[in-house]
Amino acid sequence: MDIQTRIHQKFTEKFGGRGSVFASAGRINLIGEHTDYNGGYVFPGAIDKGIVTEIRLNGTERVNLYSADYDACVSFGLEEPDKPAEAWACYVFGVCRETIKRGGKVAGFDAVFAGDVPLGAGLSSSAALESCFAFAINELNHNGIDRFELARIGQSTEHNYCGVKCGIMDQFASCFGKAGCLIRLNCKTLEHKYFPFDPSAHGYRLVLVDSCVKHELASSAYNKRRLSCENAIAAIRKNHPEAGTLSDCKRLWLEEVRGEIPEEDFLRAEYVIGEVQRVLDVCDALERDDFETAGEMMYQTHFGLSKLYEVSCEELDFLNKLARRMDVTGSRVMGGGFGGCTINLVREELYQPFVDAAKSRFEAKFGHAPKIYDVVISDGARQIA
Ligand code: GLA
Repeated sequence: MDIQTRIHQKFTEKFGGRGSVFASAGRINLIGEHTDYNGGYVFPGAIDKGIVTEIRLNGTERVNLYSADYDACVSFGLEEPDKPAEAWACYVFGVCRETIKRGGKVAGFDAVFAGDVPLGAGLSSSAALESCFAFAINELNHNGIDRFELARIGQSTEHNYCGVKCGIMDQFASCFGKAGCLIRLNCKTLEHKYFPFDPSAHGYRLVLVDSCVKHELASSAYNKRRLSCENAIAAIRKNHPEAGTLSDCKRLWLEEVRGEIPEEDFLRAEYVIGEVQRVLDVCDALERDDFETAGEMMYQTHFGLSKLYEVSCEELDFLNKLARRMDVTGSRVMGGGFGGCTINLVREELYQPFVDAAKSRFEAKFGHAPKIYDVVISDGARQIA
């Protein structure tokens, strides 16, 4: 049964009748990791896995939410200051509060939702949930908030209700995703450009290999990375007041402050400065249909994320090395890190041998099989019924 049918059955059972249906998407990111909160470029796309909700205003001041995946109900008042105890409900609570903060109206509603974004895989199931509700609430209340601000509503939800000081990439991809296109986004100006991306037309495939590990404390480690970057830029700004974010900095400027900041902060910043340039290089390469160069950049990103930014882990390094040994075009850890997936750009003829080897060798070493996802670049937040 597809998600829409499943949630409609539940909606009828819990609330009766029919509501409007909205959907939104998780995301991949080809390159440009941990650059968003440093004002740099990212290169994500929305995927064919997301969140769907059936929702209807209920004429009260309360929100009644049913998660079909958890088979659980949460109800909260729109005037209540305290967030719900259930982590999944906090995302929706946060979106309501952040909409109100921006002068939007939020009338009480009943909603059932479900999703198929694997949790903890680095595919931004939380951004999918936030943008789905930000979009739905905006439509149902005729608030007329634009998609840029809807993305920011999701990001502020993470900051203020979920404890993750994330950048804008995930929510942006989820709100602006377009089928068949990756989005090169300048996270400082939010200027963005769609790049048609069809690896299969050139004999390549994108495949995600999910290590199915999620390391503890990922969000505090994430926030710590962000602080390191802030330390580095603060030091650089003393010499170069014109540097707004790390993405404005020349490598030389960072060298100048090497002795003044902890070595760890230096390495984090070194990674970020290199990564911002790699996004531009990959976009140039793809405009020439040069997938091999793009792939090589992905390996460089993995090296940086593993050795300088230190957000990889044994399982992901193993998958990356395996890809390299098998001559896979590009491979790297994707998303925030500390577990989740590698994203791999694989020549068609190598797809099956690589997937088979990744499954069997990973399982032999770590005792559980990884999951394989083929992704289709799809539309982001939208109303579907
Ligand atoms: C998470 C965050 C994003 C971004 C990535 C790393 O997905 O939500 O904002 O920082 O990590 O690129």
